[in-house]
Amino acid sequence: MSEQLLKKSLVVRGLEISPPIVLAPMVGLSHSAFRSLVQAEGGVGLFYTEMLAAKRLPHDNELYSPLLIRDVSEKPLIYQIIAGDETDIEPAVKKLHMLGADGIDLNLGCPAPLQKRQGAGAVLAGNHGQLSKILRRLRKSTELPVSVKIRLGHSPDIDKLRSFCLFFETEGVDMITIHARLNGEKFCRKPRWAVIGEIKDAISIPIFANGGIFSPADARRCLELSRADGVMIGRGAVERPWLCSDIAREIYGMDTVQKQRESAEVYSQFITLLEQRFAPERRLGRLKQFTRYYAASFQFGHHLAASIQNSDSIEQARRRADVFFAGSMGR
Ligand SMILES: Cc1cc2nc3c(=O)[nH]c(=O)nc-3n(C[C@H](O)[C@H](O)[C@H](O)COP(=O)(O)O)c2cc1C
Repeated sequence: MSEQLLKKSLVVRGLEISPPIVLAPMVGLSHSAFRSLVQAEGGVGLFYTEMLAAKRLPHDNELYSPLLIRDVSEKPLIYQIIAGDETDIEPAVKKLHMLGADGIDLNLGCPAPLQKRQGAGAVLAGNHGQLSKILRRLRKSTELPVSVKIRLGHSPDIDKLRSFCLFFETEGVDMITIHARLNGEKFCRKPRWAVIGEIKDAISIPIFANGGIFSPADARRCLELSRADGVMIGRGAVERPWLCSDIAREIYGMDTVQKQRESAEVYSQFITLLEQRFAPERRLGRLKQFTRYYAASFQFGHHLAASIQNSDSIEQARRRADVFFAGSMGR
């Protein structure tokens, strides 16, 4: 795709997304410390929180909840909610206004049994009557951009996907992220970016393509096939917190700084951010979750992953990581 055809920035209901590279919502990963780590590298035009239960949101304390703690510099930030009951929407939106959300996303892809039982996530995506009720409540209760995040559906049915996206337009949704895998398809399956390309022309609101982007070359290929307005990056940014910066520079020709990054330094910075943002008992679990992905791109990363998984404290984890990185086990 030629650089001229790429939109380097988008405005969605007054919200500027520049560059159109978005950091994905990921439970246990897309928290304040991780967002700040990635932001320091540059190249992200929009951040998401991990999914937040709409029902619980009004009762959560933003000073203590690890899901809500944030630094004001993490901007723009869309809060992702998950809901099955329309009566939960208004109180949740009120809270998000109070928190200074830049937008609200509705999760329509989560297949977890708890969400299933509550008629939320992937189940809600299949229940258009209820989905319509929820989207109308959402649209009525906020002037902020409203987005949805979906998968391709149960089968690669282009007509069905197109109608689903048109339905979102008529319900006042401002932007759609499509995770280019079928419902239930494992993350190791090749993403179907071209399916998004099949419906793109029929949809007038911006579409972000998501799934399986681990390098600037992947991002380029994804944009070529999907012709999406931008990309959303999940696990790739955990493996390499500088990936968005690399994509912004290599694909969008932006002036992000190519740092001489030391993997050890980035890891240490992440631990420091965890210490700054979270109460002691919240830090180690999040470090373990991050390390599962971050370690994957090292030749002997499984050593790092195993030693961090077996650590009993963040101090011990830091010492063990220092030993790992001091050895010749880097990328
Ligand atoms: C650990 C983990 C947690 C996730 N949590 C969420 C979530 O809270 N909300 C959501 O919409 N998607 C969630 N996802 C899906 C991602 O946002 C994304 O769609 C998926 O990882 C594919 O993108 P990737 O290949 O760039 O990682 C999660 C994925 C992972 C790996």
